[in-house]
Amino acid sequence: MRTIRDVDVAGRRVLVRVDFNVPLDEQGRVTDDRRIRESLPTVLDLVHRGAVVVLMSHLGRPGGRVVEELRMAPVGERLSQLLGRPVRVLPDCVGPEVEAAVAQMQPGEVALLENLRFHPGEEANDPEFAAALARLGDVYVNDAFGTAHRAHASTVGVARHLPAVAGLLMEKEIRYLSRLLHNPEHPFVAVLGGKKVSDKIGVLHNLLERVDAVLVGGGMAYTFLKAAGYPVGRSVVEEDKVDLARALVERARARGVEFLLPEDVVVAERPAADAPRRVVPAHEIPEGWMGLDIGPATARRFTEVIRGARLVVWNGPMGVFEVEPFAEGTRAVAEAVTRCPGTKVVGGGDTAAAVEQFGLLERFDHVSTGGGATLEFLEGKELPGIRVLQDD
Ligand code: 3PG
Repeated sequence: MRTIRDVDVAGRRVLVRVDFNVPLDEQGRVTDDRRIRESLPTVLDLVHRGAVVVLMSHLGRPGGRVVEELRMAPVGERLSQLLGRPVRVLPDCVGPEVEAAVAQMQPGEVALLENLRFHPGEEANDPEFAAALARLGDVYVNDAFGTAHRAHASTVGVARHLPAVAGLLMEKEIRYLSRLLHNPEHPFVAVLGGKKVSDKIGVLHNLLERVDAVLVGGGMAYTFLKAAGYPVGRSVVEEDKVDLARALVERARARGVEFLLPEDVVVAERPAADAPRRVVPAHEIPEGWMGLDIGPATARRFTEVIRGARLVVWNGPMGVFEVEPFAEGTRAVAEAVTRCPGTKVVGGGDTAAAVEQFGLLERFDHVSTGGGATLEFLEGKELPGIRVLQDD
């Protein structure tokens, strides 16, 4: 796969797909700018090499029409602060006015197009819309790993019109995530959590072929505990996945993979900081109570396994970490992973938010910016936005 390092960009218009799909608060302010920060190496490299940098992204799901709250202006503002240079936010992402504005840009200048998903042609991967985007660049760069699982005009269609290369974030994501799938170092430990088993089935299937141990926490653990025949009270369970959970455990055993479920859990009557709570053995969750975090014995056991790992992938929090009394298990796992001597990779989404909340982001080798894209990559699927960058 070619990257921006392989192309001469001086004085050329470089059209860069980034994933600036970031959360905004009610005032329209960016509340988590990590995806913007992670794209800076690519943007700065192009700026320093004298490219005319035209950035494009989607924001939210406006569904092919203009939604005022989803304009790119606040994103452009944050990008400008982080870059320490002006960023011009253009009024649209295609059309003569935008083409004229780009034509007037000087080398080293940065512009950000308006939300791609204001046009139905983006998600439909409409060839005419892709061609209209392509008129804004001489070279196409895809740095939007988080959107690489979408076959849209800006991630796939446009690559048919221009020389297409990967940005530095895209390259880094692929490098680290590939290490989990191809010749991984051992012991290789996967820590999986989050609400639903259904989100992680594909990942579990694919990783079971490769890992030495799987540690399961978070909401998904209760479906496994139910599959083991234990009472789970009012814990969240996916009833239709109980059989599958049992089959996954059997498959892990058959492959000699250590498969650890919580041995104790923190239960409460509801997921609120002021609700009465206690620690109980995982096979004795009382009726009317719900499991909201792994307990201290589980955290110690998980820490022991993680300690010896040469490679760790972690995807999904161990409990409702957003509510402080239920954050301990996730924090303990985060700290254990940062202390292990091996390579430490965090899948994106909630886990990245947790790691950032604990102030531990810098202590991981890689914290993916993808949510759905990371999961699909780890499931072993070919992502269309990566496929178009690869040489045949
Ligand atoms: C994400 O946040 O996972 C990506 O930006 C893709 O967004 P989408 O799920 O709306 O396509």
